[in-house]
Amino acid sequence: MRGLITGVPVTRRVVDRFVAGENLDQASAVLADLVGEGLTATVDRLGEDTLDASDAAATRDAYLAMLKRFAELGIAGRTEVSVKLSALGQKLPKDAAKITLENAVAIAEAARDAGTTMTLDMEDHTTVDATLGTLRDLRGEFPWVGVAIQAMLFRTEGDITDLATAGSRVRLVKGAYMEPASVAHQDKHEVDKAYVRAMGTLMRSSAYPMIGSHDQRMIDIAHKLVGETGREPDTYEFQMLHGIRATEQRALVAGGETVRVYVPFGDDWYGYFMRRLAERPANVMFFLNSLVKK
Ligand code: FDA
Repeated sequence: MRGLITGVPVTRRVVDRFVAGENLDQASAVLADLVGEGLTATVDRLGEDTLDASDAAATRDAYLAMLKRFAELGIAGRTEVSVKLSALGQKLPKDAAKITLENAVAIAEAARDAGTTMTLDMEDHTTVDATLGTLRDLRGEFPWVGVAIQAMLFRTEGDITDLATAGSRVRLVKGAYMEPASVAHQDKHEVDKAYVRAMGTLMRSSAYPMIGSHDQRMIDIAHKLVGETGREPDTYEFQMLHGIRATEQRALVAGGETVRVYVPFGDDWYGYFMRRLAERPANVMFFLNSLVKK
């Protein structure tokens, strides 16, 4: 599948719907446009599951260069970074936790120096304990480091309760990984119900909820909870992925909401792209049609 997809030239056009270019120059142009339109962003340099410490160091250095560039462009205040810990060393055969933390600390320091923040993406369920452990270590010095939490996992109810502390930046998402029935809801309706429960816990707490969803029902329920709890607009935000519901992103901004767009870039787009296809059958049709049309 990887050979087929990456080998087809037309694929690039389809990938471009979700990925903001292959390099930092291309991504920076997308970011400048988003910021110009009143949106904020979180930038992911694509890549995951590295088994080599020098690749992890290269990922760290790429983030340091990105943060420097955002500061130079004057967009760092509205552009943070999203990091996958498996790209920073979480799966290395030796000293994984130590190397991951060192790399993550270097990025957090650079984010702080640039005047912005960083959020840890959440990967498949086998990584959650390690990611939350690194989050705890980071938050000692950088309390503003955020984390993504996946509603589909059974454990999430407890994790959300633990994380619902003052100012704690938590990005609530449904979950993008194929997970076994032993650890995660399989039924979409159950995932949605779990999402609403977790959103209620976060919104009623003193945490900083980041509502990561394109689902209009979730957005409507978030608005209802904001009304119920009397939250001020700067105490939560909405987040959506680049290329998905762009019109709604701008409509929310026009309504006075903070909206952060998750902007991935880089040439290692295969895993990210496949998760976007898997989420929505219509995306597979879009992809197949583009092969036929050329
Ligand atoms: P749902 O899948 O129910 O979709 C609702 C509607 O949104 C659809 O009907 C459609 O209109 C639109 N939509 C959703 N997905 C689409 C797609 N791929 N293409 C086109 N339209 C689409 N996951 C994870 O496991 N770890 C993480 O760290 C993150 N990080 C993250 C950051 C941000 C900012 C967002 C928005 C999402 C993530 N995710 C994630 C992904 C998340 O777990 C989830 O897979 C997707 O957001 C899809 O779920 P929705 O809540 O959008 O609802």
